[in-house]
Amino acid sequence: MSTLPPGPSSKLLSLIRYLRDPIGCMVPFARRYGDPFSFPGKPPLVCTGDPAGIKAIYTADPDTFAPLSADLSVFLGQSSLLLQKGPEHRRLRRLMMPPFHGARMRAYGEAMCRLAEQHTADWRPGQPVTVYEVAQRISLDVILQAVFGVSEPGRMAELAALLLDLLDGISPLIALFPSLRRELGGVGPFAAFLRRQRLVHDRLDALIAAARAAGPREDILSLLVEARDEDGRPMSDEEIRDQLILLVFAGHETTAISVAWAFYALHRPENAAALERLRAELSVLGRDPEVEALDRQPYLEAVCQETLRRYPLAPAPGPRMLLRPLELMGYALPAGVGVSVAIGVAHFREDVYPEPLRFHPERFLERKFTPFEFVPFGGGARRCLGATMAAYEMRLLLGTILRRYRLRLASLRPDPGKVRAANAGPAHGVRMIVEERLAANRQPRC
Ligand code: HEM
Repeated sequence: MSTLPPGPSSKLLSLIRYLRDPIGCMVPFARRYGDPFSFPGKPPLVCTGDPAGIKAIYTADPDTFAPLSADLSVFLGQSSLLLQKGPEHRRLRRLMMPPFHGARMRAYGEAMCRLAEQHTADWRPGQPVTVYEVAQRISLDVILQAVFGVSEPGRMAELAALLLDLLDGISPLIALFPSLRRELGGVGPFAAFLRRQRLVHDRLDALIAAARAAGPREDILSLLVEARDEDGRPMSDEEIRDQLILLVFAGHETTAISVAWAFYALHRPENAAALERLRAELSVLGRDPEVEALDRQPYLEAVCQETLRRYPLAPAPGPRMLLRPLELMGYALPAGVGVSVAIGVAHFREDVYPEPLRFHPERFLERKFTPFEFVPFGGGARRCLGATMAAYEMRLLLGTILRRYRLRLASLRPDPGKVRAANAGPAHGVRMIVEERLAANRQPRC
C-alpha cells in the first residue's frame, strides 16, 4: 500500500472546486477516494473527516506537528502564536489562555449587546441591510473594546479604519505569491501594505505603552501585559503586538461570517419553524433581560451550534505539517506531509448528522457530539483560542438583533458561499430587508 491515501491528481482542479463551492467541495472527495484522502502539492495534504482520524490528529503529541503556512510571518509578525510550534507555542498559549476563559468573557457581554444595538439602531422598515457587513463592524468594535480596551467612539473609529485598511492591504497577489513581496522603491501593493503596517504598529506600540503605565484593567491587552510565564518572564512589546494583530485577524471576520450564516439559515423558507421556535424562546424574556438570561437560552445555543456545523468557516482549516511519522487510519504517514481535519466532511457525515444538509438545530438538543465529531473550532493543542468568546458573541448578537427586528432575505437564491480571505463566507454577505422594528433600543443592558 502507498504511504499516502488516494486523492485527486490535480492541485489546480481541486483549488477551482474549492473556490466554486468552499463548503460542499470536500464530501465528494471523501466519497470518491475514501477517508482519509490526499491532495497533491508540496507538501501533499492528507485530510480526514472520520472521528477516528480526527481523534488521532487531535490527541497526538503536539510536538508531532508544525504549522503548515509559515510564510505568513510578514503579515502576522514573527512572534505570532499561529506560527509557533513546540515549547514556544505552549508558552504563548499558557500566557494567552486566561483572558479567554469563560468566566472572563462575561465581562464583555454588556459591550457585545450594546454594540449590536448601536450598529443596528438606525434600521428602518423597508431598508436593505447586508448582515455580514454590520456583523463585521460589530465584531471589530467588540475586539477594540474587549481586547484593546479602547471604548471612546472617535478612537474606536480611527483604530478600526487603520486595522481594516491593513487587512484590505493584503491583496491576493502578495498573499499567494511571496516573490511579489518587494518594496520596489515605495510603489506597488507590498510597499503600500508595509506603510499601513507601520501605521498600525505605531498605534499598537502606543496602546501597549499606555497599558503598561495604567496598571490592571479589564481588557485582554491589560491582562497580556500583566501575564508572566513559569519563569516569571512577561511578554515583550513585539510579542504582544503580534498577538493583538492575530486576534484581529482570527477574531472579527470569523464571528461576523458565522452570525451572517445564522441569519441566512434562519430566514430560508424551509427553516421557518426554527425561526419561529427561536422567536418564541426570545419573546418570553421580556423587554429588559439580563445579558446572562439571553445567553442561557437553549434553542439560541442550538441554532448557533447548528450554524457552525452546517456552515463551517473553512473546509479544512489549520493544516499541520508532520515533524515525525503519524499513524492515521491504517496509513503510516511520513514526516514532511501535511495533515488536516476535513471539517467539510466531519460535519456532513450521515451516520453522525442524519440529513446533514438540513438546518436542524434540534439535533443539538437531542444528543451531545464528541470533540471529534463537532469540530467548528478545531481541536488539540491548537484549538481556537477565541472559541468561548466567539460562541458567546454569536449568541448575544443573534439574540439582540432578532429581539429588535423582523427581517427577510432579499433573495431566496441558495448561497453556496465564497472564499473570503481564508474563510468561506456567504457570497453576497446575506442581503436582507428590514420588515419591522419590534422594540426600541435601550441602555445599558440587553
Ligand atoms: C465563529 C468564530 C470562530 C471560528 C469558527 C473559529 C475557528 C477557528 C479554527 C477552526 C481554528 C484552527 C484550529 C485548529 O488548527 O485546530 C482557529 C484558530 C484560532 N482562533 Fe478562532 N475561530 C473563531 C473566532 C475566533 C475569535 C473571536 C478569536 C479571538 C478573538 C479567535 C482566535 C483564534 C486563534 C488565536 C487561533 C490560533 C490558535 C493556535 O494556533 O494556537 N478565533 N479558530
